[in-house]
Amino acid sequence: KQSELILAIETSCDETSAAVIEDGKRILSNVVSSQIESHKRFGGVVPEIASRHHVEQITVIVEEAIKKAGVDFEDLDAVAVTEGPGLVGALLIGVNAAKAIAYAHDLPLIGVHHIAGHIYANQLIVDSLTFPLLALVVSGGHTELIYMKEHGSFEIIGETRDDAVGEAYDKVARTIGLPYPGGPHIDRLAAEGTDVLKLPRAWLEADSYDFSFSGLKSAVINTLHNYKQRGEEIKVEDLAASFQASVIEVLVGKTKRAVEQYNINQVLVAGGVAANKGLRNALEAEYADSNVNLIIPPLNLCTDNAAMIGAAASIKLKKKEFVGYDLNGNPGIDL
Ligand code: KG4
Ligand code: ZN
Repeated sequence: KQSELILAIETSCDETSAAVIEDGKRILSNVVSSQIESHKRFGGVVPEIASRHHVEQITVIVEEAIKKAGVDFEDLDAVAVTEGPGLVGALLIGVNAAKAIAYAHDLPLIGVHHIAGHIYANQLIVDSLTFPLLALVVSGGHTELIYMKEHGSFEIIGETRDDAVGEAYDKVARTIGLPYPGGPHIDRLAAEGTDVLKLPRAWLEADSYDFSFSGLKSAVINTLHNYKQRGEEIKVEDLAASFQASVIEVLVGKTKRAVEQYNINQVLVAGGVAANKGLRNALEAEYADSNVNLIIPPLNLCTDNAAMIGAAASIKLKKKEFVGYDLNGNPGIDL
């Protein structure tokens, strides 16, 4: 047998997903069941509800992934699962399902870090990752610049000191009355507005690659408050555009400086906020006429999915980095 098949499972937040990946690159199936509708009315993900949905969905989703891939459990080479970070109750559903499948079909078990998964989503798009590379990870829980000198080696050179960028998007959206998750709504409104408010840019210390978004979020809230007090109407498109302009300028600015300092050839963008059109356009413009190879996954591979977990797991399968049946959900695991 020539190709290697991994069944991957992801249940760290509000998406129940299973995928079958061939040789760490080809997606044979990638089934994603979103729970967004159930969490919307609470304005965010409710952990207990997330766990219940995962329990209800996991068996069906795994079977669908196997069926869609046109394979059998006996054809698999390994089972991979997100072990963290994420909601502990949600993680446990995926971890236990993966253990049960590994045990029943006598397959090795691989634990994957959720952020490694987001980064390796890019391996499903290009033939090979070229090192040293820089990954800009922007999601609901993470904002990080990660330097990779080789497969499986992650050096965090900068990270958020407060809110993650997706979190800031969701909070700002909530403040202006948009539904959860707010990122896509702000993105859409921003395209119709102008950066007239000139909100602060959180550059922090000159040599720092860290981020901070809570000040910007407060600036948005204060601006809204001031307009209200003066009895003036604020154009919500302009507010969205101003917020997004500040976010993008800092994300792109710090990425650019890291690319120069670390002599980077390849820049990967990862995580749910990588779906942001403003950010995609700004990065594409920045690296259009350069030697730097910029890769941004298509939208369905930016948000949570199991295919990316399978891609990251392929590196561990090659090195035979397996875990035992004592694998646990680990909400605070390090990359
Ligand atoms: O990676 P992800 O699916 O889940 C986490 O691991 O956090 O990211 C979800 C985050 C949410 O905060 C959502 O609002 C944000 O990604 N997001 C966006 C866009 N699409 C999703 N933020 C800005 N613009 C978008 N187009
Ligand atoms: Zn994620």
